[in-house]
Amino acid sequence: MMKNSRINHLYDYPFQKLATLLEGTVPPAGLKPLLMHLGEPQLPQPAFVAETLAENQQFWNRYPSARGTAAFRDAAAGWLMRRFNLPAGMLEPARNLLPLPGTKEGIYQLAQLVVPGPEDWIDGAQPVVLMSNPTYHVYKGAAVMSGAEPVYVPATAQNNFLPDFEGVGEDLLNRTALVYLCNPSNPQGTIADRDYLARLIALARRHDFIVTFDECYTDIYRGDPPAGSLEICAAIDGSLKNVMAFHSLSKRSSGAGMRSGFVVGEPDLIDDFYMLRSTGGAVVPLPLLAASAALWGDDAHAEQTRSHYAALFELAERMLGNRTGFYKPPAGFFLWLDVGDGETVTRDLWERHAVKTIPGAYFSYPDALSGENPGARYIRVALVHELEDAEEGLTRIADYLGG
Ligand SMILES: Cc1ncc(COP(=O)(O)O)c(C=O)c1O
Repeated sequence: MMKNSRINHLYDYPFQKLATLLEGTVPPAGLKPLLMHLGEPQLPQPAFVAETLAENQQFWNRYPSARGTAAFRDAAAGWLMRRFNLPAGMLEPARNLLPLPGTKEGIYQLAQLVVPGPEDWIDGAQPVVLMSNPTYHVYKGAAVMSGAEPVYVPATAQNNFLPDFEGVGEDLLNRTALVYLCNPSNPQGTIADRDYLARLIALARRHDFIVTFDECYTDIYRGDPPAGSLEICAAIDGSLKNVMAFHSLSKRSSGAGMRSGFVVGEPDLIDDFYMLRSTGGAVVPLPLLAASAALWGDDAHAEQTRSHYAALFELAERMLGNRTGFYKPPAGFFLWLDVGDGETVTRDLWERHAVKTIPGAYFSYPDALSGENPGARYIRVALVHELEDAEEGLTRIADYLGG
C-alpha cells in the first residue's frame, strides 16, 4: 500500500508520549485525580452562549459558508479593534477574516497553502518552517506534512523564552516559507514586546515569508495587555502583508469544545486560504457562529476569566514561590516549572498524588547544536480549574516538591 511516510514523524504527539510514560501506573485510591496536563479551561461559559445557541437552532440544517456570517466577522473585527486599539478602516471584515472551527486546524492548514511543493523550490532547496523550541506540536506537524524542514529555535530562560529568529542566519532565512510564533507563549507564558514583534514582521517582509502569530492566549494576562501583531502592523504601515494572526475562543471564553476561532490576514492570502478551506476544511455551524459573535462582542466575561487566572497564579506563587525554578508567568495559564527531571516528577506526581502534569520534554526537541532537550528539566502544569481543585492540585505539588 502506498502511504505518506511523513506521518511517522507525528508519533511524538505529547499526549501520546504522556500516555506511554504513565502506562501501568495507577494513582492512589481515594484521591481525586486532578488533570493538570491539559490546557482545557474548566470555567463555565456565560449563560448567553446557551441562549444564543437555542435561538439559532433552526440553522443546524444549513451548510454554513467557509467565510462565515457578516455578524460573526463584524463581532470578531470589533473585538480586534477594541482589544488592539486599531485605527478605523484598517480591517474590512469580509475580506480580512475567516472563521475557523478552532484555530488548530487553520494553523495546520496554513502550511499547505504557504509551503511550496518541490516543483516550486528555488534551486532545489527544501523550504524551512521556523518555530520556537519548546513548541506547539501542531507547528511541527504542519511543517513536516507540507514537505518543509522544521527548524527549532531555542526559547529558553536565557533568552526570556523568546526565539531569536533573526539569528538563524541568512541561509535558513532565505529558505523560510513560514514562521510560527505563539504570543503569549505556550508553555512558558512569555510576552513578546512591541519591538520584538516589529522586528519579526520586518524580517518576514525582508525575506518574504509568512509569519503566523498564534495569539490564542492574548486575553489571559496579569499586568498590561500583551501587544498583538495587528497593532504593530497598524504602527508600521497599516498593511497586514506577510502576517497571519490566529485568535480563538478556547482560552478567552473557556470554549475549547465550541471549536471556534478565526484568522485575520491580507485579502489575497485570505482568498487563497478560503479556497483551500472551502475544498477541505471544516466550517463553523451557523448557531455556533452566532454564539461566537456574542462572545467576541462581550469583554466582561473575559475580564472575569482573567481575574480568576490571576488569583490562581497568586496562589501558586504563595505555595511554590520560594522554590528555585519558580517564576510567575505574565500571561497564559501554565506553570512552567523547572523541577530537574520532568519525566520522573510527572510519573511521581501521578503515582503518589494523583496529579497529572506533562513533562516539558514532550514539547521540545533536542537542540541542533548541544543535543540537549531544553524542556527536559520542566513540567507543564495547567492552572485551568475552579479554585478548589486548583488549590488542591497546587497543595499536592508543593507537598511533593517540598515547596
Ligand atoms: C499554542 C496553541 N495554539 C493553538 C491552540 C489551538 O486552540 P484551538 O484549536 O482550541 O483554537 C492551542 C490549544 O491548546 C495552543 O495551545
